[in-house]
Amino acid sequence: MPIPKKPPVVVVTRKLPDVVEARLKELFDARLNPDDRPMTQAELIEAVKTADVLVPTVTDRIDRAVISQAGPEMRLIANFGTGVDNIDLDTARNRSIIVTNTPGVLTEDTADMAMALILAVPRRLVDGATFLKSNREGWTGWSPTWMLGHRIYGKRLGIIGMGRIGQAVARRARAFGLQIHYHNRRRVSPDVERELEATYWETLDQMLPRVDILSVNCPHTPATYHLLSARRLKLLKPSCYVVNTSRGEVIDENELIRLLESGTIAGAGLDVFEHEPAVNPRLLACNSVVALPHLGSATIEGRVDMGEKVIINIKAFVDGHAPPDRVHPAMF
Ligand code: 8YV
Repeated sequence: MPIPKKPPVVVVTRKLPDVVEARLKELFDARLNPDDRPMTQAELIEAVKTADVLVPTVTDRIDRAVISQAGPEMRLIANFGTGVDNIDLDTARNRSIIVTNTPGVLTEDTADMAMALILAVPRRLVDGATFLKSNREGWTGWSPTWMLGHRIYGKRLGIIGMGRIGQAVARRARAFGLQIHYHNRRRVSPDVERELEATYWETLDQMLPRVDILSVNCPHTPATYHLLSARRLKLLKPSCYVVNTSRGEVIDENELIRLLESGTIAGAGLDVFEHEPAVNPRLLACNSVVALPHLGSATIEGRVDMGEKVIINIKAFVDGHAPPDRVHPAMF
């Protein structure tokens, strides 16, 4: 009689939706985190010493110190999330550890959040809602000149990063009458450009002075760290709004704050921050800022779909197949 293979040890660093955890337990020797307390670096190091698979999230720093302590069984890091800037990819590759992510399933939710901020900041949605809630008796009624924002219809939206999410933002923005401008490492196909009536700018420096709203949709990589540097932020018009649903590190946050405080940028809608989860109090003190606690993919459907992707990647790997969402496709 064949000796049954032991199910692989899968360490999951955060609490995931119940259905995802139930399936993980059925398929694998899943070590879950029901309390959802983020693991310390020391706990992560302990985990990778004995795990076959690690399932981290954006809140875990899977750096060289962690990966280099991985035991011989650790062959897969199945990230619960699309961005993989929390993982030292080079060290993982050098140690032949495959890294997978969850692309595609959070595109529409993240694009919705970007669009919500594109509407909310110029139209002062949060200002208005906060006013009513905190002044229940104090509203004296409609006024022709009170609480005015700015029209978005007909304005120019500049998108940095025209991948899946950037294009999904552009589709929504078209429906609101915005003109699409974009900068991307590579120009998108003529079909997509035609569909979105999008204008491509070869350099960011050319695009920035020309847009009324800027949406950051590129991943955070070594090449995009502070892509919106102090110098580049100064190229924006003083009437421009900045929306970021990608990663805080793409923008020089200190400079953004200085420009917001001095009114040299009109406002910002931020779902991500440079030193997350720390949020600079000066940013929160700016009236022209709508700040959200990283809610881009925060839908029940999205998080279940992300879990499903994680499971498919692990299952494929365990069964000897190439996990579909390999960050380095050549690795398997
Ligand atoms: C996720 C995200 O919730 O997937 C991403 O890149 O930014 C988020 O919306 C997060 O990464 C979970 O790990």
